[in-house]
Amino acid sequence: MLEIKNLSFEVNEGGEAVGILRGVDLTAEKGEFLVVTGPNGGGKTTLAKAIMGLVEPTGGEILFNGQDVTHLSVTERANLGISYGFQQPPRFKGLRVRDLLELASGKKDITRDDCCLLLNKVGLCAGDYIDREIDTSLSGGEVKRIEIASVLARGSELMIFDEPEAGIDLWSFSRLTETFRALHATRENTIIVISHQERIIELADKVILIADGKVSHAGTKEEILPFIFDPTNVGCAYDRKAVEK
Ligand SMILES: Nc1ncnc2c1ncn2[C@@H]1O[C@H](COP(=O)(O)OP(=O)(O)OP(=O)(O)O)[C@@H](O)[C@H]1O
Ligand SMILES: [Mg+2]
Repeated sequence: MLEIKNLSFEVNEGGEAVGILRGVDLTAEKGEFLVVTGPNGGGKTTLAKAIMGLVEPTGGEILFNGQDVTHLSVTERANLGISYGFQQPPRFKGLRVRDLLELASGKKDITRDDCCLLLNKVGLCAGDYIDREIDTSLSGGEVKRIEIASVLARGSELMIFDEPEAGIDLWSFSRLTETFRALHATRENTIIVISHQERIIELADKVILIADGKVSHAGTKEEILPFIFDPTNVGCAYDRKAVEK
């Protein structure tokens, strides 16, 4: 359902072209749960944004259900069934949580029960939040979880979550892990989660390790987990020279 071929993204820094994504190939099938992991600055968020249309690739192709979406707008991609939860979600002064969930779900007059269900999935006590504004009065972890709830509300065919664990307490993280597990069990959505968490990696059908703008390793969690967490590999998985080979 998602096919990424030789994707590149270059920026110009002081007159020199710098490759942020350097020939990324990746496929995800319908119903698959993919985890993208790798060192800070490796290019994970850039890849997610390129899939969503927030970053314009300088080369390569993105196919979604066989359609070339490489240069479509964010709105066009959202309408086709792609959604993305930001690593650092924006705040919207004046917009209440229930408004965001209503917008995301596409339902007019979303019910209080619908909102409760969605917020419970991310470990939020709904009654306390439904009428809150998504402004600076919300904590980082609250905004992050509300953003995740909005992606869940949309229920797109392809959902991309960028470090959903970031800033989230252990109890909510536990709840979130269960939500991902249940969502995956339906096999109705393709889920890509960018994560550094072993408990998320454990849910994956396929793990993609991105370092220095490239896929350095891809495989099942059984293949990749020992490689990531084996102390003798420290520095190796994330070593640029190893990646260049
Ligand atoms: N528009 C841009 N101009 C210049 N450099 C950029 C641009 N976008 C991203 N980068 C750089 O590209 C690299 C990859 O960034 P990206 O945000 O994709 O990394 P990441 O793998 O998501 O890292 P993290 O784990 O810290 O979230 C970083 O070094 C970043 O500074
Ligand atoms: Mg990132």
